[in-house]
Amino acid sequence: MVNEKWHERWEQGKLGFHQTRYNSRLEKYWPELNVSKEGAVFVPLCGKSLDMLLLHEMGYQVVGVELSEIAVEAFFSENQLTFKRTESGNLQEFTGTGKAAGIRLFAGDLFDLDTAKTGPLSGFYDRASLIALPPEIRQQYVAKLADLLSHGALGLLISLSYDPSSMSGPPFSVPDSEVQSHFGDHFSVDYLEQYSGPERLGSLADRGLETMEEFVYRIERI
Ligand SMILES: C[S@@+](CC[C@H](N)C(=O)[O-])C[C@H]1O[C@@H](n2cnc3c(N)ncnc32)[C@H](O)[C@@H]1O
Repeated sequence: MVNEKWHERWEQGKLGFHQTRYNSRLEKYWPELNVSKEGAVFVPLCGKSLDMLLLHEMGYQVVGVELSEIAVEAFFSENQLTFKRTESGNLQEFTGTGKAAGIRLFAGDLFDLDTAKTGPLSGFYDRASLIALPPEIRQQYVAKLADLLSHGALGLLISLSYDPSSMSGPPFSVPDSEVQSHFGDHFSVDYLEQYSGPERLGSLADRGLETMEEFVYRIERI
């Protein structure tokens, strides 16, 4: 899906991917990663994910990037949080104030972000981000992560895989072999857990999907 389509989805409120509670995989695995708090946790393609609040509550600084300003503003307003807004090159930077101090979200394209803007990143969290991107962009996405993250940065990746003939993405099917090949050059990839079954489908069942597998990985920038 090209950028324009994502903007349309946010304008029209077509947000089937948004979760209204914390992700249970993040709750389960994050504490045991022991991610350093010296740098921030990077949340690429963050939408208005509540998981950023959980990371912040756990004592982390959070840096997110999201194409849609609607999403970024909604994150702050729906959680009764305040921010100040500044321009940062092609991006708009929303810096949390008060209770939200330590959360910085960039509205704009991930590929316009650089380490001068993000500062040091010692962790990252990818839920529904890699799988939101079409095949031709995924390798560039992983290369961008490798550029932005500090060596030794740790994070979680939640990916999914399904029979691509039963549904067209996003979310795209990104099987284990593809995760390994994309991340293999600059990251170590440890498989943590796999879930499957029709009960995990949610709104994807309406699009023709009968089953899918969800994979959780521990990823380290080497
Ligand atoms: C499937 S949603 C997932 C959002 C979030 N990770 C979550 O778990 O709710 C993917 C998001 O990526 C954003 N996005 C897509 N391409 C992007 C890009 N190049 N740069 C920044 N954000 C992008 C979309 O606007 C959309 O909000």
